[in-house]
Amino acid sequence: MKTLIKNGTVVNATGVAAADVLIDGETIVAVTAPGSHLLGFNLEQNVDRVIDAHGKYVIPGGIDAHTHMEMPFGGTQASDTFETGTRAAAWGGTTSIVDFVVQYAGENVLDQYAKWHEKAAGNCAIDYGFHQILSDVQDSSLTAMDELVREGVSSFKLFMAYKGVFLSDDGQIVKAMQRSAENGSMMMMHAENGSVIDLLVQQSIARGDTAPYFHGITRPWQAEAEATHRAIMLADLTGAPLYIVHVSAKQAVEHIAAARDRGKNVFGETCPQYLYLSLEEQLGAPGFEGAKWVCSTPLRARAEGHQDHMWQSLRTNDLQMVSTDHCPFCMKGQKELGIGDFSKIPNGIGSVEHRMDLLYQGVVDGQISLSRWVEVCSTTPARMFGMYGKKGVIQPGADADVVIYDPNGHTSISVDTHHMNMDYSAWEGFEIDGHVDTVLSRGRVIIDDNQYHGSKGDGEFIKRGLSQYLI
Ligand code: URP
Ligand code: ZN
Ligand code: ZN
Repeated sequence: MKTLIKNGTVVNATGVAAADVLIDGETIVAVTAPGSHLLGFNLEQNVDRVIDAHGKYVIPGGIDAHTHMEMPFGGTQASDTFETGTRAAAWGGTTSIVDFVVQYAGENVLDQYAKWHEKAAGNCAIDYGFHQILSDVQDSSLTAMDELVREGVSSFKLFMAYKGVFLSDDGQIVKAMQRSAENGSMMMMHAENGSVIDLLVQQSIARGDTAPYFHGITRPWQAEAEATHRAIMLADLTGAPLYIVHVSAKQAVEHIAAARDRGKNVFGETCPQYLYLSLEEQLGAPGFEGAKWVCSTPLRARAEGHQDHMWQSLRTNDLQMVSTDHCPFCMKGQKELGIGDFSKIPNGIGSVEHRMDLLYQGVVDGQISLSRWVEVCSTTPARMFGMYGKKGVIQPGADADVVIYDPNGHTSISVDTHHMNMDYSAWEGFEIDGHVDTVLSRGRVIIDDNQYHGSKGDGEFIKRGLSQYLI
């Protein structure tokens, strides 16, 4: 099957150009000057399907490198399965995810890894890879790290918070980082000082400050900045590359930027919620409403300027990319577990469907350029996590994961129209000046004309290499 996408404006991280894109089977085979001719050969007459992208952007499919489909967490389980979550991602122009295999203390890493393959295989609408979470760092976990790198799982997440659930102490962190420095993998860090947070939470509940707003108050920016700095120092000690996940505090960014200025392999992601939402407006909503936005790190005070700083950091490359940390829970029966005690609200927000749109709105609003949009949503995730060349770029030889995005279209976000398995939207009422028109996953049209044409099981496991982003 040959497909020609003609008359579009191809946007790569490296620039923007009018070009036609020829796809053969699952692969992009040519990106040519407009006019659908290649060395005098009329492409249009020799393909099976022509897609006219006149007036539209042709971009590499989005890569969301931080999702938690059906993750057991907070006494319940994230409400999107691999099937529903990856389908929703496709609707929003994301054609690859990297999800987290969970290892709780005492569990065997490779057993957990096998379980996650069972959950995902045959269910995904788009391609998927895995990072591995390590909690207690057993000797067997260290050998598993080497094995996983060979399997195409080249990144490991550790937690400095959630004692008794995920937390690794500093010694365990150093042990894992030493192994990462040896095998070339990427260390990912949930950087919040868990002991401090646990104390503040206890004190808050004892005072009767139990509403969702206090989730934010008990996870102050100092706890994030301190842990970020500590993680950077431990990475420095061991020589491991370090990627800080879900950065929300401007003071944490300052530590990342300072380390990068020293030439260190230290990187950071932020998420749409930290660009747009705030402690005052969302977490502070009346009654129990704020539970919709309980996630960690928490939404930060707009009065302190964190949101503006996140946008600026994307412009200056102090932060390198945007993932969603998609970890959805319904209000009914899930978020409700924390009525009367915010610490029992399952932590997480669902956004996998909206990241490309929300970041495109940043282009419209003058926050980032068109190429930077593609870079932070697709190209850098591909390079950071060892997929570049196949993913993250419109060029010959790449997988034909392509989104045709209409800058004259419009998207209204609502629970009534989204495709995530959630009974509310954290983004209700957001209006986007653009629209995902057509989505191709490895050459197959899976979204077009506001219809889903794919099926579960279309998505394949992505065997990743080592990061292509290291200095
Ligand atoms: O609130 C969050 N972020 N939930 C998902 C787990 C994590 O820490 O990434
Ligand atoms: Zn985390
Ligand atoms: Zn997460």
